[in-house]
Amino acid sequence: MSDNLTLPAQQAATGTGSETLLEVKGLTKHFPIYGGFPIKRKVGAVQAVDGVDLTVGVGESVGLVGESGCGKSTTGRLVTRLLEPTSGQITYAGRDITHASRRQLAPVRSEIQMIFQDPYSSLNPRQTVGTIIKSPMEVNGINPEGGREKKVRELLELVGLNPEHYNRFPHEFSGGQRQRIGVARALALNPKLIVADEPVSALDVSIQAQVVNLLQKVQDELGIAFLFIAHDLAVVRHFSQRVAVMYLGKVVEVGDRDSIYNRPRHPYTHALLSAVPEVAMDDETEERERIRLSGDVPSPIHPPSGCRFRTRCWKAQDKCATEEPPLVQISGNRDGHLTACHFPEEPTTEARDEDVVLDPALKALEKAQDKH
Ligand SMILES: Nc1ncnc2c1ncn2[C@@H]1O[C@H](COP(=O)(O)OP(=O)(O)OP(=O)(O)O)[C@@H](O)[C@H]1O
Ligand code: SF4
Ligand SMILES: [Mg+2]
Repeated sequence: MSDNLTLPAQQAATGTGSETLLEVKGLTKHFPIYGGFPIKRKVGAVQAVDGVDLTVGVGESVGLVGESGCGKSTTGRLVTRLLEPTSGQITYAGRDITHASRRQLAPVRSEIQMIFQDPYSSLNPRQTVGTIIKSPMEVNGINPEGGREKKVRELLELVGLNPEHYNRFPHEFSGGQRQRIGVARALALNPKLIVADEPVSALDVSIQAQVVNLLQKVQDELGIAFLFIAHDLAVVRHFSQRVAVMYLGKVVEVGDRDSIYNRPRHPYTHALLSAVPEVAMDDETEERERIRLSGDVPSPIHPPSGCRFRTRCWKAQDKCATEEPPLVQISGNRDGHLTACHFPEEPTTEARDEDVVLDPALKALEKAQDKH
């Protein structure tokens, strides 16, 4: 593997026409399950991520959206190589980093950073903010012009915090401010790609917008690419140029923002969109009838055959149980808009006639209300 980090010259299918920074092909992570006595042996596997294809262009923001447990964080941790992939390929800036060793990863490590969901637990409570933000520079032996402290103060200012708070501890900050500290730490090494794993979902709604705006500023001004993980399409709507929708370890639909929000084809994307709260809609968006998903998400240990969404899909037919739908550009889709479905929905967000009940919690709530 070469140590040269120059980007590949060819344009790739990032949807934005920009050069590819990150390319993921057939990415798979199966967590083995061990059982038996007295000798433990492998009895199964959690198919957390199962053949994911994804690209992120230079400076591009890609949203990765799906329900809890669908494999978003695992994908993020594979991309940042915090986890070892079971199979598939991860190419970063033209180099294959799928199974790169720690030493081989060293030059890339600083370029790919992660922001975590929980700003409380991701910061060491015993370290000052200055130490927290400075430490990636120390670990990587980076001495910016003017010194590390100067750089930290600049970063604090960039993320909207007071540089005078350099010596304060995390508990002296609010949730939103702590997430800003997390952003400053991620920026300390001038990354090219940030994997942000639900960076705002632990924050109050009013604070969420501020942090998303900060990340937007970072993306615009510093040209940093993002893989932005969220369980809700509303959060990535204004932030990501492209969106990939995940279900049970697979990407079921991917496309540019307009295709996903206004011309979705996969039934699951329709369902997710209908769950986006009204307040998140702008004036131009048609009001969507709520589609409610019935049943629980199946276990990733025994995912359904064929299309994994079939147990909750209102359009499922026999073929869906026997043939896995490939992620392809189906008829009527624009370039770069891929959908994995045998019987896709019309490219519209108009209300559907039938209304399928899908959210078990919602169903239980309605039942309880009916009784009163
Ligand atoms: N280390 C592990 N060992 C075994 N199973 C795991 C491990 N990490 C994750 N899983 C399982 O893999 C699946 C995907 O988990 P993951 O955390 O990637 O989902 P997610 O989409 O990020 O969910 P959430 O929205 O709740 O954060 C889940 O079924 C989870 O229980
Ligand atoms: S392939 Fe079949 S089950 Fe899967 S989403 Fe399409 S219609 Fe539904
Ligand atoms: Mg997660």
